[in-house]
Amino acid sequence: MTQNGKKSHSSSCDGQESSSKAQNKMWGGRFAAGPDALMERINASIDFDKRLYEQDIRGSIAHCRMLAAQNILTDEDAAAIERGLREIREEIAEGRFVFSAALEDIHMNIEARLREKIGDAAGRLHTARSRNDQVATDFKLWVRDTTDRIIAQLGAYQQALLDQAEAHADTVMPGFTHLQAAQPVTFGHHLLAYVEMAGRDRGRFADARRRANSCPLGAAALAGTSFPIDRFATARALGFDEPAANSLDAVSDRDFALEFLSAASICAMHLSRLAEELVIWSSAQFDFVRLSDGFTTGSSIMPQKKNPDAAELIRAKIGRILGAQNALMVVMKGLPLAYGKDMQEDKEALFDAADNLELCILAMTGMIRDLKANEERMHAAAGQGFTTATDLADWLVRVLNMPFRDAHHVTGRLVRLAEEQGCDLQDLTLEQMQAVEERITDEIFTVLGVDNSVASRTSYGGTAPDQVRTQIRRWRERLAEEDAS
Ligand code: ARG
Repeated sequence: MTQNGKKSHSSSCDGQESSSKAQNKMWGGRFAAGPDALMERINASIDFDKRLYEQDIRGSIAHCRMLAAQNILTDEDAAAIERGLREIREEIAEGRFVFSAALEDIHMNIEARLREKIGDAAGRLHTARSRNDQVATDFKLWVRDTTDRIIAQLGAYQQALLDQAEAHADTVMPGFTHLQAAQPVTFGHHLLAYVEMAGRDRGRFADARRRANSCPLGAAALAGTSFPIDRFATARALGFDEPAANSLDAVSDRDFALEFLSAASICAMHLSRLAEELVIWSSAQFDFVRLSDGFTTGSSIMPQKKNPDAAELIRAKIGRILGAQNALMVVMKGLPLAYGKDMQEDKEALFDAADNLELCILAMTGMIRDLKANEERMHAAAGQGFTTATDLADWLVRVLNMPFRDAHHVTGRLVRLAEEQGCDLQDLTLEQMQAVEERITDEIFTVLGVDNSVASRTSYGGTAPDQVRTQIRRWRERLAEEDAS
């Protein structure tokens, strides 16, 4: 198809023509001919790894300074390289840089441009490193930067949940198990459950980041280098705790990406659960919450509709995020040490997963912030389905000293009676109740209302409004401490 240098496929990179049959400048010495056009297409990563440009230049500047400090590079060459790299950073940031698929990836695009700018000194930057340690370093820096941003976004999401939880510490709603009305809870308490989940998510990201804190730079291709480099200096300059201690591991480790994707998947799963609740709650049949116009859409044919599209999409995004984790795990399994080009497949899915997770967190934060709870509707629903049956049983245990199992049985008979009468438990007469258990007194009615029920759940972490406010206070203090540190 591409014999005789005939190009049947043009580069997909920025619509640029690639010089597919020209010898590669970086390793042309070893090659008589340039790559097939298909080879260029399958090999080039510049379309997506251009996103690493800032981290790539940061890494190169740290490397360059270290080479000069170690007298491996002259100060003049180092100064020229650093100046050139800074200019290139601006060119890319301002969209003036012309990327080339023939130059494969971000590392070689930048180096080739550096040569155009400063001449032969550019060729000295790659002393004592390889693209293998370079890409591992860039990618790790990118994942760390993104992790920091996500941790902050999750903090803002928690704040939005806390604000609503505070406003609804006393708002009673049905709590469900099996999506069957179980016991009354407060809406504030329900929202705090998601604050807890987001707290663990932040912990997972922070934990993964701590382990992603060794620097691969200087591992070179796989075996280290014979140059007297200072890996501690580059690690420090790039904000890592230490240099990675095994050069083979340094270039072939993608645990940091897998851990990021694992934390992202669990986080997306949590967001998906809340999204699902928002979809249910905002339906006409539930009508527990109203979502704002800002996060819903209308129907082109049914004028009454207000669709929770943002929530539905957040519910669905877990698919691609978990998919990314799965994809990278499959890429990595069975890869012999050290670097393999397979590992170039680590980036696209992770970028996509990170972009979508950030979008989900931001959209969910907006939805929670705007959400209006329908308090009357929630309160009315909280009493439906005999949700205070447990309170009744507990009363029998507490006041009549009945074993819980017997109390459960008596309560079950009362529920059946109420069901037969088509009324709620508190609507049964004292006589009706005493027909089932003669020792019941009218004091029973004090525990049967849903407000009484939630107020009584004062155990630590329970749904009582006072407990909810205690937990809100605890979270606010914790978030303030984290902000300060
Ligand atoms: N673009 C490559 C990647 O993302 C960079 C490393 C290439 N190294 C090599 N020896 N071909 O993995």
